[in-house]
Amino acid sequence: MSSLHTKTIPASDMPDRPAFNWLDDTGEDADLTVMTRDVTKIYQMGEEKIHALGGVNIKIATGEYISIMGPSGSGKTTLFNVIGGLTKPTSGNVFIDEIDVAQLDANELAWLRCRKIGYIFQSYNIVKVLTALENVTLPMLFAGVPPDEAQDRAVYILGRVGLGDRVLHTPKELSGGQQQRVAIARAFANKPSIILADEPTANLDLKTGEEIIELMREMNQEEGVTVVCSTHDHKMLNISDRIAWMQDGLLKKIAKRDEVDIEISQLAEK
Ligand SMILES: Nc1ncnc2c1ncn2[C@@H]1O[C@H](COP(=O)(O)OP(=O)(O)OP(=O)(O)O)[C@@H](O)[C@H]1O
Ligand SMILES: [Mg+2]
Repeated sequence: MSSLHTKTIPASDMPDRPAFNWLDDTGEDADLTVMTRDVTKIYQMGEEKIHALGGVNIKIATGEYISIMGPSGSGKTTLFNVIGGLTKPTSGNVFIDEIDVAQLDANELAWLRCRKIGYIFQSYNIVKVLTALENVTLPMLFAGVPPDEAQDRAVYILGRVGLGDRVLHTPKELSGGQQQRVAIARAFANKPSIILADEPTANLDLKTGEEIIELMREMNQEEGVTVVCSTHDHKMLNISDRIAWMQDGLLKKIAKRDEVDIEISQLAEK
């Protein structure tokens, strides 16, 4: 690990970039999986308006692994929910594989969520009464994959995440790390364009969290699926292609991993 780091630069010293320079970071010719344009989200709470997103512009290239960091309340989950079609932005546009999410009706949106997006949450969110195999098979059945084919893929992918001997276990018969592996297998099941992982290691111990991160990176590379992962975990920086920092509902900084010489252990101590 140490070969990746040569000197220490605190995150706060990362160069600030003008708003639209970020858009060039993926390269002019990169195939894009996600593009947001001036996305805002305002929550109205009685008299109070909460500006959860204040105009976010980001392009994410196909196959990229990008980590989104930022303090609690900075808007990471809101950005995820907007990109994932779970929350409607107040203004601005979100494109997934060049599809403008705002233009979709309820059925089309359900199709997009099912085929194009895989979700991984901090609290796993797998169905409690279903086995690991059923949890992973279900989204493929929703997507119209024939049952035999869906089951074969579920068995393969559960084996790939290290649960080949746990396919018939229900969540209560699995550890937290194992449940998160089921969630990862489920997220990758339909070969989506993008995986949105919102603090996937927050409920796990250090070692299990590290294994989960490494697994997500391996799957990202093997399956060529774009991964966007929000995290407070500095270990994520090592395996990311790019790292974005959010603050007060804005993307403050974004940089390629090899441009960020961060000594993770020292940064983590700050
Ligand atoms: N449904 C909602 N209604 C009203 N306000 C909300 C809602 N969801 C989020 N917010 C507010 O929007 C802001 C951004 O919240 P968000 O959950 O996106 O932050 P976050 O970066 O994911 O934080 P954390 O690291 O704690 O998960 C916060 O001020 C939060 O209180
Ligand atoms: Mg959050």
